[in-house]
Amino acid sequence: MEDEVIDKLIRRARSAADNAYCPYSDYPVGAAVLTKDGTIYSGCNVENVSLGATICAERIAVGSAIADGYTDFEAIAIFHEGRDLPYPCGLCRQFLSEFGKDWEVIVANGFTYEELSFSALLPHAFEPEELK
Ligand code: THU
Repeated sequence: MEDEVIDKLIRRARSAADNAYCPYSDYPVGAAVLTKDGTIYSGCNVENVSLGATICAERIAVGSAIADGYTDFEAIAIFHEGRDLPYPCGLCRQFLSEFGKDWEVIVANGFTYEELSFSALLPHAFEPEELK
């Protein structure tokens, strides 16, 4: 992917992280997903006092895109300002892989970023084909 597109996606994820609702973990996360036609949807983590009801930033971003009719994605950027890169949780890896494995996951922390493939993130995935 072009550097400018990656930068833009990371900036959108970073700005969504500013709106994270995370009073329990104090760990803000932002995500921005790029559709095949160039539209970007963002999301942030939304926590809940019933901790299991928390929704991760990635799932909010992709859910918004789905609500507008998109299911084909180019990339998703995940941002958390900190020392370590914010690799997505296992549940989000599974959630994202529902929409194909031929798109890119970018993790960024304000200092650096890394581009990851689904084969690296979720080898031997449980895929929609298994249920056919
Ligand atoms: N979180 C995300 O938003 N995405 C992930 O992939 C990992 C975890 C959020 C959930 C929770 O609000 C906080 O980070 C700490 O787990």
